[in-house]
Amino acid sequence: MEQRLLAFFTERPNEYLSGEQLSEQLHCSRTAVWKHITSLREQGYIFDAVPRKGYRLVGIPDRYKMAELLAALPATGAGRTIKLYDSVDSTQTIAHKLAQEGAAEGTIVLAEQQTAGRGRMGRSWHSPKGKGIWMSLLLRPRMPLQFTPQLTLLVAVALCRAIRKLEPLPVGIKWPNDLLIEGKKITGILLESSAEDERLHYVIVGIGISVNLETGDYPETLRSVATSLRIASGREWSRTGLIAAFLEQFETLYKLYHDEGFEPIRASWEALSVSLGKTIRARTPKGEVEGVAESIDEMGALRLRTPDGKVTKLYSAEI
Ligand code: BTN
Repeated sequence: MEQRLLAFFTERPNEYLSGEQLSEQLHCSRTAVWKHITSLREQGYIFDAVPRKGYRLVGIPDRYKMAELLAALPATGAGRTIKLYDSVDSTQTIAHKLAQEGAAEGTIVLAEQQTAGRGRMGRSWHSPKGKGIWMSLLLRPRMPLQFTPQLTLLVAVALCRAIRKLEPLPVGIKWPNDLLIEGKKITGILLESSAEDERLHYVIVGIGISVNLETGDYPETLRSVATSLRIASGREWSRTGLIAAFLEQFETLYKLYHDEGFEPIRASWEALSVSLGKTIRARTPKGEVEGVAESIDEMGALRLRTPDGKVTKLYSAEI
């Protein structure tokens, strides 16, 4: 609806369009028109409003081209509704709010900058303006809560495939959800669920991809552990192109997951993993454990062979 509303304004530059005219054209109430204008204003669009004349679009955010390109994505599947923001605290917070208001599966929240980006384990996520993909994807899968870690692995596979498709970089997955290039992190995934009595309402998949950051864009503390696609490849990347490539891979895997279950995803994850076969030390809520990472089980847990020969399963840990 917002894309149509914007198209209506951009096709009539400098014209005032009344609420009545817009509600007729878009087949919605005047209150709905007002709500969409308010939402667009929050996203950085500037409207002049004059009583009895209506609204006139006088300013568009400089990343409008990105919205136009994203609107060119296939009309079905994830990404058909995109909410684009200039600066937000966290795209996760906005996505939760939209989900609670009934937003559809596949809705995407994108921001140029996050001022309080969230990482796993209560950490913050460095999200400088215009340099990366800071995105939250709303999913409404019909599955029990305990299966949601499988979605994290699915998204990691989709991201890894998308990057490799655009350039053959040595990118691999570190359990459970980091993408690394030569030992340094380029993406992180944060899955947040809303459920009641094990019944899943929705899932927000937060994806952070360090795309065009240069060394100077990182605080000193992150320089030895983080990298970006630009640093790794020596060239600037199109964020829109990468989002499109990710969504294509995601759609394929999400459908496969619904049709055939977790097994093919598990196998793809293992093929892309940089963790398997390595001795790792994991910090779990129950303490530290060390062992050789052997495989992923049918739930998405990491099977670790400890020095006493036993197998420990890790569902959530820091490694
Ligand atoms: C991690 O700790 O590795 C997960 C990082 C996830 C960061 C992304 S950026 C978009 C979304 N919004 C957030 O606040 N966090 C996630």
